[in-house]
Amino acid sequence: MAEKKLQNQVAIVTGASSGIGSGVAKALAAAGATVIVNHPATATEAAAEITLAAIKAEGGTGITFQCDVSREEAVKQMFADVITQFGTVDILVNNAGLQRDAPFDEMTLEQWNFVLSVNLTGQFLCAREAIREFLRRGIVPQKSKAAGKIICMSSVHEVIPWSGHANYAASKGGIMMMMKSIAQEFAPKKIRINSIAPGAIKTPINHDAWATPQAEAKLLELIPYQRVGTVEDIAAAALWLASDDSDYVNGTTLFVDGGMTLYPGFSENG
Ligand code: BGC
Repeated sequence: MAEKKLQNQVAIVTGASSGIGSGVAKALAAAGATVIVNHPATATEAAAEITLAAIKAEGGTGITFQCDVSREEAVKQMFADVITQFGTVDILVNNAGLQRDAPFDEMTLEQWNFVLSVNLTGQFLCAREAIREFLRRGIVPQKSKAAGKIICMSSVHEVIPWSGHANYAASKGGIMMMMKSIAQEFAPKKIRINSIAPGAIKTPINHDAWATPQAEAKLLELIPYQRVGTVEDIAAAALWLASDDSDYVNGTTLFVDGGMTLYPGFSENG
């Protein structure tokens, strides 16, 4: 049985009805955390229930919680309800994110705003509520050395420009500086805030990039380690950042990308 590094801790994982969020939710639950499997809409309830069922099948605990993270009142309500039901929140995984790709000269304001409101404003709203609760509660030494932990799901595109995805890349660049700024602001309060920057991970968000052997071969040209990542690769990193094993890690982005950020185009060029 896995060591229960997050015993008695409560974790909210946003966007946990699919992809990376679902994998992270399961890993935190397996480590003993009670996990709030957040999902955005009625249409995603069934998928969130599948994540929760997998958690329970492994002996874990949690609930599903519908909340569109881009809506201020909904986010406040989610935190208030979770705190009423479980006493506090110890870990926030700011994971919810999406893409609405378009050539820049054709990108609509709606596409721009939708991506920024979920990916960046959503992380702001959730982080703010989490920090308010961490400050209120402070450190509980039996649970963790920190007063709270936030993990922001960023992307290699916080540093790699991406044509046709300016809204998405801008949201991830924004996450990087929000994360570092609040990590600096709240480190004296023993709140740890870090990001994970996944590379290409096999999930629905990038399905077309790996679904056929041809697409996968093309994608692997960008990945020196020569395999597409899995949600388990990211979940392991999230568990480490949420646990006291990373107690001295604050304000950093952990790239989990098989070397995608190593400029692979330069390996036989330049
Ligand atoms: C994007 C994926 C993409 C990956 C690597 C991620 O942040 O969501 O669609 O495959 O970055 O480019």
